Amino acid sequence: MKGIRYLSWFLTFVLFFLIGKAYGEKLVDTLDELEKIYPPSSVCAGCHANIFEQWKVSLHQESILHSIGGLRNFIKFGIEGEPERKARAEKPGGLKAELMKCFTCHAPQLELASDKLIKEIADAIVAFADKKDPQAKAKLERLNVSCYVCHNLKALHPPERPEKNVIYGVKGTGTSPFHVVKKHGFLQNSNFCMQCHGVFVAPDGEPIMCNTLSQSYRDHYVAMGGQKTCQDCHMKAKNRGHTFPGAYNLDTLREGIGINVDVRQLVDLNPTLPKEQQWRPAAKVVVDLINNAGHRIPDG
Ligand code: HEC
Ligand code: HEC
Ligand code: HEC
Ligand code: HEC
Ligand code: HEC
Repeated sequence: MKGIRYLSWFLTFVLFFLIGKAYGEKLVDTLDELEKIYPPSSVCAGCHANIFEQWKVSLHQESILHSIGGLRNFIKFGIEGEPERKARAEKPGGLKAELMKCFTCHAPQLELASDKLIKEIADAIVAFADKKDPQAKAKLERLNVSCYVCHNLKALHPPERPEKNVIYGVKGTGTSPFHVVKKHGFLQNSNFCMQCHGVFVAPDGEPIMCNTLSQSYRDHYVAMGGQKTCQDCHMKAKNRGHTFPGAYNLDTLREGIGINVDVRQLVDLNPTLPKEQQWRPAAKVVVDLINNAGHRIPDG
């Protein structure tokens, strides 16, 4: 079963890659050029101020900086420290192929980065992780799971490719002077989130187990009759909107873990003690921890 699933993922990505090529997209050398193709969230802030403020506190906004240690170790130990991977990374396009194994979810915009830009970003990751270099930080802050990533780049089910400069939404009715709006149901489907919140198989067949949450959502929560989507719990419930709280948010964490405590009073007899101390008050405490989340917790 697993083999078939991996094979189908693999074929999907081959197709994705071929279609991407067919569009003849040009690779770019600088972050400025990249932002012309994939506008940063600050561009949307002028008209969507509320949602922008919500997004600013989410981890999607710092999806490189927040994972900096792991990304640095992958470059230093996973690539430079592993002879086989190092040899692959030294070939043209090789470093990009290795690093897209992380960036596909942590900064998908980099799919259009040239080898030169990828190297610059890899160096910045190491410089910021090791020396807190402010220039490196300024570059990395520009890479994240932005509005445009979700509402264009990742908004359709592969191999369907998004149209340039179209914003995909849930209503598709509003008119905007800035962008064309189209409705697409994928945004309201758990699979939309699962493309990043689950196991990923790279075009070369390597499975990346950065997180496996979607697998437990599908195999345990949905399989046991769970009805809610990721969006129901993480966006619609409690008006969470675009803040996407998770395990770093105490309120969400509490919601995820239910506690049932059952206490029974008992009296304990200990014949080895002096008479007046033989009967001692005691209690039996049963604590049940219940998982209320739609998946295994914690993730990782
Ligand atoms: C399929 C998409 C995907 C891929 C591929 C991926 N990641 Fe992640 N990564 C995520 C998501 C989503 C989270 C947040 C998971 C969570 O909190 O449950 C995450 C979290 C992390 C974290 C933990 C941040 C924290 O909470 O402390 C690190 C570190 C990390 N990733 C590094 C990497 C590295 C290095 C690679 C490449 C080898 C990689 N990731 C590949 C999606 C991905
Ligand atoms: C991680 C993916 C993700 C990111 C990042 C993201 N969105 Fe969304 N957005 C969604 C999803 C999913 C929905 C649909 C939620 C639903 O109703 O099921 C949505 C809904 C919307 C809506 C329509 C509903 C509403 O609340 O009015 C607007 C407008 C919107 N987003 C704008 C933005 C802007 C602006 C940003 C950046 C500041 C942004 N989004 C960032 C996933 C994302
Ligand atoms: C010049 C103002 C302006 C800018 C800039 C702007 N938008 Fe919008 N956007 C609008 C208006 C107006 C609507 C329609 C309002 C409505 O449907 O209530 C809209 C609607 C949307 C919707 C909802 C579509 C739906 O059908 O659910 C999304 C998603 C969205 N914008 C995302 C973005 C993103 C992402 C950016 C940045 C790349 C952005 N917008 C930049 C004005 C703007
Ligand atoms: C383009 C990839 C991508 C998509 C699509 C995406 N996410 Fe994420 N998400 C990430 C990454 C990467 C992180 C982790 C950032 C970090 O910790 O460095 C993250 C973080 C989160 C967190 C915070 C995790 C924590 O440990 O607190 C939540 C919650 C979350 N995402 C929910 C969602 C939901 C729900 C959706 C669908 C509506 C979604 N995400 C869509 C990539 C994505
Ligand atoms: C029934 C409600 C519910 C559903 C459905 C649900 N979640 Fe969660 N999720 C929670 C709660 C509650 C937490 C906080 C508990 C915790 O992390 O300990 C959480 C935590 C998370 C975290 C942080 C996990 C960690 O330990 O770092 C991520 C990421 C996340 N959810 C993503 C998703 C995605 C993606 C989906 C859909 C595939 C989804 N969730 C479906 C309720 C839900």
